Amino acid sequence: MKKVYLETFGCQMNVSDSERIASVLASDGFEMTQNENIADVVLFNTCSVREKAEHKLYTRIGQIRKFAGRNPVVGVLGCVAQLEGETLFKKSDGIDFVLGTQAVGRISEAIGNVFEGQKGYVDLEKREENYDWSVTENQRHSPYVAFVPIIEGCNKFCTYCIVPFSRGREKSLPAADIIRHVIKLRQQGIKEVHLIGQNVNSYRPTNDSTLEKSRGATAFSKLLRAVAQTGMERIKFTTSFPRDFHPDIVEAINENENLCNWVHLPVQSGSNEVLRAMRRGHNIESYFKKIDTIKNSPRRLSLTTDIIVGFPGETYKNFQDTLKMIEYCRFDSSYIFKYSPRPGTPAFDIVDNVSPSEKKERFMELDGLQKLIQQEIFKSYINRTIKVLVEKASVKDDTQFSGHSTCQKVVNFKGSSELLGKIVDIKITEAKVNTLFGSVI
Ligand code: 5AD
Ligand code: SF4
Repeated sequence: MKKVYLETFGCQMNVSDSERIASVLASDGFEMTQNENIADVVLFNTCSVREKAEHKLYTRIGQIRKFAGRNPVVGVLGCVAQLEGETLFKKSDGIDFVLGTQAVGRISEAIGNVFEGQKGYVDLEKREENYDWSVTENQRHSPYVAFVPIIEGCNKFCTYCIVPFSRGREKSLPAADIIRHVIKLRQQGIKEVHLIGQNVNSYRPTNDSTLEKSRGATAFSKLLRAVAQTGMERIKFTTSFPRDFHPDIVEAINENENLCNWVHLPVQSGSNEVLRAMRRGHNIESYFKKIDTIKNSPRRLSLTTDIIVGFPGETYKNFQDTLKMIEYCRFDSSYIFKYSPRPGTPAFDIVDNVSPSEKKERFMELDGLQKLIQQEIFKSYINRTIKVLVEKASVKDDTQFSGHSTCQKVVNFKGSSELLGKIVDIKITEAKVNTLFGSVI
């Protein structure tokens, strides 16, 4: 049996794609391995959202070619594959084949062709009509948590972002398939699903007769109510796009206990001038309105975001607006990135007048303030009891367990393996900047 090692970079969509790639390979007679040194085939599912992620690919290919001892077939999949296509063979001579973001269902065919001696194999074509979105149980990243893609691609074309080019136009999956998928996962014992997509709340299926029975101001809030009806214990969704974030989403959460206490709403900047240059489709006033709706929920919804510092043209004054913005929003956590120019995006052609050292300083300043806010929020959990899905034992100490709260915080506690997969009450006793600690009650 040929052994395949698969390494994944980037976002949840890539993790989800990799789960399906592994499922296809396993059912086609390959054996998945965690050990790159014994693999006959090494696959990289790549990310192109920032330069660093792309560089990592070339470093890893170099390492495989140098240290593997054997000469495995190397395949590049995902976003870098889609964008670069056959130019990848020129960029690195360690690559045997290239498979784009929508071609991943044809992975076995690609490997088969390379084994038969085909050189320069590239498939960047569309997803097959009857593509199978399911994942076999032992290829899931967690036995208790499952990703359910509901929309792929992106139509937003924010000026800094490569995703619309690497993942193509938005395409919503049929609601009936999504509901069926969630029901099946529930039967398999999955406790938590994450409805995923680049912009889940832009969900717009072509035929939504399944959603007709469901109440809601938008197709997405109808879908949320319909998924809640499946009885799945916990439902999370990410990522939401601010412009399309309808207050009815918060209503749906308020009405359904199993829709979790968490919204991820990337703001990117606190400055209207920068938001305009990024072509985000929202301004800071409209964003604050959405934040107010989320904060006014009778449940305490945790709020997370993405922010880019040092976008071309961002002045220090613009940046100060971002500092003010995070003081207003008080995010439970935020992913802060230094702007990274991506060839092919509109922002790539703007002269970048923010130096690397200014980018770094802004990153540090914003990160420092975020940490202060976050520490206060995390400390406010001390002595409170929250529900945590017990997901895994610590690698170093098998009496220590961890999982996520409904508000998507990582919680560590002492426990035993019978708790795995259960939702338990944990009383919080200590708070670090990114993690809570507590004990089972
Ligand atoms: N540079 C830096 N960060 C970026 N992101 C997307 N494109 C870029 C870029 N060119 C960030 C955004 C997005 C997150 C997934 O990655 O904040 O929300
Ligand atoms: Fe990129 Fe903007 Fe689409 Fe998000 S919404 S994937 S940032 S283009």
